[in-house]
Amino acid sequence: MMKTAFISAEVYPFSKVGGLGDVAGALPLELANLGIDIAVFTPGYGSIDRKSFAIESSPYRFRVRIGNDFVECGLSRWQSTVNPRLQVYFVENEAYFGSRSVYSELNGVPCADNPKRFYLFSKAVLEAFRVLNWIPQLIHCQDNHCALIPVYLKKASSDYRYLENSKTLLTLHNIAYQGITELSQWEMFNLPEDLFYPTAPLEWYGQVNPLKAGIIFADAVNTVSPTHAREITESQELSAGLKGVLASTGKRIYGILNGVDYREWNPATDRFIAKQYSPGTVSEKRWNKIALLKDMGFGQLDSDRPLIGMVSRLVEQKGIAILIESIERVMAMDVSMIVLGSGEPEYEKALLELSERFPGHLRIDFGYNNPLSHKIMAGADMFLMPSRYEPCGITQMAALKYGTVPIVHKTGGLADTIDNWNGETGNGFVFENYSSEALVGTIKKAVDAYRQKKIWKRIMGNGMACDFSWQRSAVQYHELYQSIIDGNK
Ligand code: ADP
Ligand code: GLC
Repeated sequence: MMKTAFISAEVYPFSKVGGLGDVAGALPLELANLGIDIAVFTPGYGSIDRKSFAIESSPYRFRVRIGNDFVECGLSRWQSTVNPRLQVYFVENEAYFGSRSVYSELNGVPCADNPKRFYLFSKAVLEAFRVLNWIPQLIHCQDNHCALIPVYLKKASSDYRYLENSKTLLTLHNIAYQGITELSQWEMFNLPEDLFYPTAPLEWYGQVNPLKAGIIFADAVNTVSPTHAREITESQELSAGLKGVLASTGKRIYGILNGVDYREWNPATDRFIAKQYSPGTVSEKRWNKIALLKDMGFGQLDSDRPLIGMVSRLVEQKGIAILIESIERVMAMDVSMIVLGSGEPEYEKALLELSERFPGHLRIDFGYNNPLSHKIMAGADMFLMPSRYEPCGITQMAALKYGTVPIVHKTGGLADTIDNWNGETGNGFVFENYSSEALVGTIKKAVDAYRQKKIWKRIMGNGMACDFSWQRSAVQYHELYQSIIDGNK
C-alpha cells in the first residue's frame, strides 16, 4: 500500500483561512479512498475545538532544534471515521501554536514570527516520522509553510537517514506567498552557510526565501490548475518573480485542478440555507434570496432585482481594486450586491464608504462567517470573482452547483472552470482584460441575460450540471505520486 504524508498549515474543519484549508480537508480523504495510507500533519492551533472533534493526545514527545535552542513538541491525533486509512496528526507546542491561530494571534492580529513558526512545524514533522516510526514514501508539501522539508531531505540528509528513500512533491497553491524572512536569521535554520550566499537556493534579494528553495529541491512541483501552471512558467508577474527559478530547475510544472467538496457545498443537503433545492426544484432557490435579503437588512425585499454575491479575502489578488472602481457604474444597473470578506484595512474602508453611499443596494460584512458564505452562495443570482490572478479558486466551482452564475476574470483556475455564455453554451460570464471597464461590461451582459428568464435558466442549468468533484483530481494526484515514487516524473 502506498504511504503518503500530506503537510498543510490549514486543514478544514480544524482550521481554515482560505482554499488551502478546503483542499487539505478534502483531497486526503479521496486519496485514502483510492487505497493510499495517508497521514495529514498540521499545527495544533489554539483555535481548534479539540473536544468536539475528539482529538486525542498522544504520549509522543520530541525536541526540535532551532539554531542553538531545542523546542519541545508533542503530537495529538484524529482518526477519520469514514476511512481508517486517513489520520491527522497535530504538532503541539503551546508558544508556537497552542496559544495562537493559523497566521494570527487569537485576537486576530497577524503573528510577527510566522516564518519561524512554520519552520519549527516543518522540522517537527520530520521528527514525528522518526518517533512514530512511520516512514512515508512520499511527502506532499503544501505552499511555503513546509517548503523547507525538501531542502532538509537534500541538504541535511545525514540528520534524516531514515527518510533517504522518501520523495517530495511541493504544491504551489499561491506562489505569491513565499515565507520570506530576514537573512540575519540564517543560523536558525541549521542549514549549510553556502545555501544563503547571494543567488544561492535560499537567498532572495538579500533575504531568505523558503519557497524558492523548496521549488529547487523538491522531487516534483505542481500547481492547482493547468492554466496557472502555464501562467507561472510564462509570466514574471504571475510567478511573483519566480519564473526564472522554475525554469532553472528544468522541472515540468504539473497543473492539477482542485475539486470542490460536495459534502459541504451542495444545495440539496446544505444545512445552513433557508430552503434546500436541487436541479429539479431550482425555483425554490428564490426563498434563499428572500431570506438573505432579509438577513442582510435590505429594506426593499425586491427579489426581481439581480443579486450579486461575493465571498473573498479582501486582498489585491482578488480584484478588489477594480471592484471598488466599478461599484458606482454597477449600482446604476439597479442591482443589489452583498460582499462577505475580510482583509486589508484600506479595502475595508473603501467598501464601507461605498455601502454608506448605496445603502439600499450594497451590503458588506467584514467577518469570517462560514454559515453566511453558504447563504450567499444559495441566495445570490450571480457570484463575482474579478481576481487579478487565481491559481484555482474553489468558490466559483461551488457557485456553479448552487445555480449561482459566476462572473470571473479569465485567469488561472477561473479560466479552466468557467465558460463564457455565448448565446448557445456557457456556464458563466468571463472578461479577458483585467480592468474595471471589462468588469462593468461583463456584469451588464450578465444582468441583461438575467432579465431573459429562459436564457438565465439555461445558464444556471449548465452550471449545475458541471462536476468538479475531488475524485477526478485525486486520481491525477495518485498517478503523479506513483510516478514520483517510481522516479519517472
Ligand atoms: P483563496 O484560497 O485564495 O482565498 P479559494 O476560492 O480557493 O480562494 O478559497 C477560499 C475559501 O475561503 C472558500 O471556501 C471561501 O468560501 C472561504 N472564505 C473566504 N473568505 C471568507 C469569509 N469572509 N467567510 C467565510 N468563508 C470565506
Ligand atoms: C490559494 C489560491 C486559490 C486556490 C487555493 C487552494 O489560496 O489563491 O486560487 O484555490 O489556494 O488551492
